Amino acid sequence: GQSRIGVTGLAVMGANLARNIARHGVPVAVHNRTTARTTEFIEAHGQEGTFTGAETLEDFVAVLEKPRRIIVMVKAGAPVDGVIGELVPLLDPGDIIIDAGNSHFADTKRRTEDCARHGLRFMGIGVSGGEEGALLGPSIMPGGHPAAYAEVEEVLASIAAQVDGTPCCTHVGPDGAGHYVKMVHNGIEYADIQLIAEAYDLLTHVAGLDAPAIGSIFSEWNTGDLESFLIEITGKVLVKTDERTGGPLVDVIVDQAEQKGTGRWTAIDALELGVPLTAITEAVFARTLSALRDERGAAAATLAGPAPGRGEHRPDLVDDIREALYASKVVAYAQGFAQMRAASIANGWNLDLGAMATIWRGGCIIRAQFLNRIRDAYAEHPDLDNLLMVPYFTEAVANAQDAWRRVVMMATEHGVAIPAFSSSLSYYDGYRRERGPANLIQGLRDYFGAHTYRRLDAEGSFHTRWAQDGVEVRTDG
Ligand code: 6PG
Repeated sequence: GQSRIGVTGLAVMGANLARNIARHGVPVAVHNRTTARTTEFIEAHGQEGTFTGAETLEDFVAVLEKPRRIIVMVKAGAPVDGVIGELVPLLDPGDIIIDAGNSHFADTKRRTEDCARHGLRFMGIGVSGGEEGALLGPSIMPGGHPAAYAEVEEVLASIAAQVDGTPCCTHVGPDGAGHYVKMVHNGIEYADIQLIAEAYDLLTHVAGLDAPAIGSIFSEWNTGDLESFLIEITGKVLVKTDERTGGPLVDVIVDQAEQKGTGRWTAIDALELGVPLTAITEAVFARTLSALRDERGAAAATLAGPAPGRGEHRPDLVDDIREALYASKVVAYAQGFAQMRAASIANGWNLDLGAMATIWRGGCIIRAQFLNRIRDAYAEHPDLDNLLMVPYFTEAVANAQDAWRRVVMMATEHGVAIPAFSSSLSYYDGYRRERGPANLIQGLRDYFGAHTYRRLDAEGSFHTRWAQDGVEVRTDG
């Protein structure tokens, strides 16, 4: 029989995507490099839909309807190029290769061009939602030629999460656009997680609460403005009791965060684009600092400062921390969306940022009520420079800012590190300054390197011979 779509790479994400597609009535061909895994897959899930298991890539392409649609779900990097290299000689012009892994957008751009030289259509699609999302409804961020998207739209939209009847899947843009947006999604995921971790740290070491008590607070927060998947599961993780010790499980988990690279890529690209992306970047650095566990152990015994203690009892402390978390979250999203806008302009992608907020409302890791507000903001102002400038967010941060400032001061006094909270506040204060201190930076650059400066009161570029005769000269024209 002919299969409408194929999936190669049957680790958990690929397997679950294949199952999700088949459960929607679409015949799926499945293939894995190690054939035992294909056999196991068919044994375990063959009843869930119409599957054709293929032992070789030749058999796999032979059972696919044309134009062939092949989802590649292997580890990002060289393995993707390996599979493409094997597929190219087996395919016909017009066939579509779909990379659904967490690939770097620049690789996706390159692969799109390479495939086009063979008459093949390449798509890079971001898929978020982890194992469960892949099976039950992920958020899907497809990038590639619109004509290629048209060939897979029906299948992708049907397997995606649905919110209020709208699928969490929309054509993002050409070539690397889908993977770019997925990358920023992950960057925002890093910022959200870091902000949650900082709130947890403050609730532990300033408010003096234990993990289950903090878990209840997060569950309560999940009924308000902060309502989101990550806040919800924070509540669940914090109340979990460890079977061995009988205490909270989080208390025995090693405090070293790992990362697979998408957050780092987001920060690197922000630096290259020249977009201030402080919250996500601090989140990446916080993970790298956490990894220096041995150094931290030595420093804890050596470096002076207030010992993170327990127990400052102000009645509104918990509420202050919630407001600081919310305001910082607004900044993190404002920065991430500003980055997507800059990338869209730089790459000619024409991203619809409101549509990105829309497809992130369900299925993905950062899914949240909050994204409806972002969608609304772009519906009213499609060319918005910064989310902070729409009345809803302007007011939200204005209302939260007293609490936000109190929390940053209190954390500093108690010696609790809050890089994402405090850098978000600094960004906010820097962004709302009409005149900042960079005039001095320019003066210094001109002093030591004759790098020139511009004046408020005259056109042109100027240099002062600071250390010689002190005379200013115009350096242009
Ligand atoms: C998702 C997740 C997913 C993965 C992250 C984890 O959207 O489903 O973002 O892609 O869980 O890549 O990233 P780290 O291992 O870097 O934390």
